[in-house]
Amino acid sequence: MTSLPLTPTSAAHGHLDCHYFNAGLCRSCTFIETPHRDQVADKEAWCVEVLAGHSPDAWLPAAVGLDRDFRNRAKLAVGGSAGSVTLGILDQDFHGVDLRECGIQAPQIRAVIPTIAHFLNGTGLAPYDVKARRGELKFVHITAAPSGDLMTRFVVRSQHGLDVLRSRGQELRALLPTATVISVNLLPEHKAVLEGSREEMLLGDSLRMNLDRVDLHLRPQSFFQTNTDVAIGLYNQVAAWVDEIAPSSLWDLYCGVGGFALYCAKESGQQTSRTITGVELSAQAIESAKISAVELGFDSQSGATVEFIADDATEFAEANLASGERPDCVIVNPPRRGIGARLSTALEDSGVEHIVYSSCNPLTLAKDLDQMPSYTVSQARVFDMFPHTKHLEVAVVLRRR
Ligand SMILES: C[S@@+](CC[C@H](N)C(=O)[O-])C[C@H]1O[C@@H](n2cnc3c(N)ncnc32)[C@H](O)[C@@H]1O
Repeated sequence: MTSLPLTPTSAAHGHLDCHYFNAGLCRSCTFIETPHRDQVADKEAWCVEVLAGHSPDAWLPAAVGLDRDFRNRAKLAVGGSAGSVTLGILDQDFHGVDLRECGIQAPQIRAVIPTIAHFLNGTGLAPYDVKARRGELKFVHITAAPSGDLMTRFVVRSQHGLDVLRSRGQELRALLPTATVISVNLLPEHKAVLEGSREEMLLGDSLRMNLDRVDLHLRPQSFFQTNTDVAIGLYNQVAAWVDEIAPSSLWDLYCGVGGFALYCAKESGQQTSRTITGVELSAQAIESAKISAVELGFDSQSGATVEFIADDATEFAEANLASGERPDCVIVNPPRRGIGARLSTALEDSGVEHIVYSSCNPLTLAKDLDQMPSYTVSQARVFDMFPHTKHLEVAVVLRRR
């Protein structure tokens, strides 16, 4: 995977021909028959419409990556039968549909799927039968770093499945030489979710995501943007906006493993003198962000200006603003539900000069902006994070009027 210039490119012409879609086997890429360039134009037009009440001074051209090979994470449902598994999705009757050649996945992921299927066949474990509520193998999650290193996770129903996979750990490590992390996740409940809370490591503990300016560390249950090249474009764009704003203090709320905070911790390749605080609910993600910060030289000996705190974003903001802590700039990158009324109101009343809001849901972004009438949108940009689907990322810079 390489870092792309992320402006509309020749990759945005034509459309991706997918035999699974053509045969009606998988319809996940709803817009795959629309040329990629037109998909992006449609997404931009939709964002302009949804944000009409908060029209920016300037819309920057959409940031677009590849229309294939772009997904760094595959979440494969296991179907079929013991000794003959499928890896892909389940159809509406819960029968397995094998999608091992899916063209949107990173090539490093496609390369190992046959090996993983062969390994699972050798275990004799049965795929989980959703109707009968029997069987073991539920999902295989594979994440690829730009280096080609992989994190491979097996989601199973019971301790028995875990024991069988653990007993074959050595074989698995030998079969998957590019995997630096291998784990088994237990999901005993009959629920429409992709993983449970218990994770047992068979190899390593975190995947090094070597991005262009920063290495991030990803543990099995942490969030990571699914399109590495477009994520790099997003982090660089936000860092450039923050450089223009030149805050001396910055919060990165909903920081995950620290992408925005750590990109903003470097100015022209030099360590910043800014005070940066990343806040995230997941303690595991915060541990990973701290490791990256130390690797970048922000440790307790360096008079660190970068810190990461495990907390609820709203609680953190309310408590700190109430005690007179007010950063010059706040980055927010919440889940689809947005930052909500409480945090929007806290920011509206805060006196904070600049906010950078990166959203995967323009509808909740617009709703949150409605609650912050003191801010005007200066720049906005669509990031084509999820080609062939209706989903997108949009980032906006807000300036206090
Ligand atoms: C869209 S992700 C963004 C992560 C990160 N900014 C990145 O670029 O990878 C949203 C993150 O918000 C975290 N989160 C969810 N609810 C939260 C809350 N109430 N307070 C703080 N973080 C929360 C999730 O764990 C997830 O890591």
